[in-house]
Amino acid sequence: MSQLKHLDNSPPTPGKFKMDKSPYIHRLRWHGSLAKLTFWSFIFLGLILIFFFRSPSSNSLPSDPSRRSLRTYNWGGPAWEKRVRSSARVRSRHGMSVLVTGAAGFVGTHVSAALKRRGDGVLGLDCFNDYYDPSLKRARQALLDRSGVFIVEGDINDSALLSKLFEVVAFTHVMHLAAQAGVRYAMENPGSYVHSNIAGLVNLLEVCKNANPQPAIVWASSSSVYGLNTKVPFSERDRTDQPASLYAATKKAGEEIAHTYNHIYGLSLTGLRFFTVYGPWGRPDMAYFFFTRDILKGKTIPIFEAANHGTVARDFTYIDDIVKGCLASLDTAEKSTGSGGKKKGPAQLRVFNLGNTSPVPVSDLVTILERLLKVKAKRNIMKLPRNGDVPFTHANISSAQRELGYKPTTDLQTGLKKFVRWYVSYYSGGKKASG
Ligand SMILES: NC(=O)c1ccc[n+]([C@@H]2O[C@H](COP(=O)([O-])OP(=O)(O)OC[C@H]3O[C@@H](n4cnc5c(N)ncnc54)[C@H](O)[C@@H]3O)[C@@H](O)[C@H]2O)c1
Ligand SMILES: *[C@@H]1O[C@H](CO)[C@@H](O)[C@H](O)[C@H]1NC(C)=O
Ligand SMILES: *[C@@H]1O[C@H](CO)[C@@H](O)[C@H](O)[C@H]1NC(C)=O
Repeated sequence: MSQLKHLDNSPPTPGKFKMDKSPYIHRLRWHGSLAKLTFWSFIFLGLILIFFFRSPSSNSLPSDPSRRSLRTYNWGGPAWEKRVRSSARVRSRHGMSVLVTGAAGFVGTHVSAALKRRGDGVLGLDCFNDYYDPSLKRARQALLDRSGVFIVEGDINDSALLSKLFEVVAFTHVMHLAAQAGVRYAMENPGSYVHSNIAGLVNLLEVCKNANPQPAIVWASSSSVYGLNTKVPFSERDRTDQPASLYAATKKAGEEIAHTYNHIYGLSLTGLRFFTVYGPWGRPDMAYFFFTRDILKGKTIPIFEAANHGTVARDFTYIDDIVKGCLASLDTAEKSTGSGGKKKGPAQLRVFNLGNTSPVPVSDLVTILERLLKVKAKRNIMKLPRNGDVPFTHANISSAQRELGYKPTTDLQTGLKKFVRWYVSYYSGGKKASG
């Protein structure tokens, strides 16, 4: 999983990745900000008063249920529904109609594009939160938009929105990738893990269970559920009761919640345990990404070592291999068996490791990056903190191999070359070079 992503040693907000902002600009803005604050406070108060006097009851919901939303998301209306329908329309003969949550995310963008390419109907859903630079999510959205994938802006914990989506489109499959990722961010915002990985998951499963027909669901768990296990390689049947982070704990709980919905309501469920996914359009909070940024900037990078100078290693998995595993999971998913909230028979329940089966020490990752970037890294060897990262991951993929035909084909060297090529072109093409 993403245990590596927070190896940043001196972030201004620990664990949370942000694009560099100049403190100088902040100082300039600070002047006169008190007057501005007072001004805007009055405007804001005025708006609140207007809102209260105009609504018949202060806690009643807006009268048009299709426009209800949890935050400020705007959805509903005939034009919106038309876009939703058109995006989800199946264009190949035996295609499926897939709702992809987290579609503006790293994995979600790649999976959505791949499904669309082969003629499946795809509708995205994403809340565009600012856990990492939202402009990267917007750029991915623009990419998908050009290939005909519409991303609905909204929250997976919004049941009115999800019900509406299922009312408009009879999705055959859900690819559930929306989540609060990252392990260090729990120190800053533990509630976000509960909101997306627990409440949001339950809400999604509730709506799926009520849908008629019920869709089959494939969703992203994480290799982090193996926690502090020492038996390698990690196999699906190994224990998962030693989480090393709140993130891991919520993913583990998610697996049990999924199991429950399978058992009680007949939902077809496949959980995928991803192992440190990397590649173009990747996540800026992950080590390979910010190592690249910091090496280019001449900034020192922290390289963690385990107890007794042990090596920290990750089973880095290239995005294209993960996408193949996701599509094969969707293709082999059986139909859910319930209807009207009741199970008619036992439904499919699966869990697969999707890794590369070839762990690489983080110091080797840095050496490869140095070669590709032609810049020497400033390395700072540090002890692995106890708040989230595990010392190593290594996937046993024989189960995915057997049942999905999953066979990773990209080694770290080849995959990083593609990542670096994307990185350099993305951040030189008028985008912020500091990113
Ligand atoms: N990338 C990895 O190495 C890795 C490893 C293991 C597991 N995973 C899991 O795979 C999935 C995809 O990961 P990713 O790397 O693409 O992460 P990502 O953060 O790039 O994508 C997740 C997307 O979900 C969206 N989202 C979050 N909460 C939401 C909510 N409540 N409602 C709607 N949208 C919401 C975010 O805006 C984001 O665009 C996640 O479930 C993650 O936990 C990823
Ligand atoms: C999720 O939605 C439910 C129902 O709308 C709400 O009661 C709950 O507070 C939300 N949970 C979180 C953690 O946001
Ligand atoms: C990998 O997992 C399979 C079960 O899917 C198991 O039979 C096999 O022994 C495991 N291999 C190793 C090396 O642990």
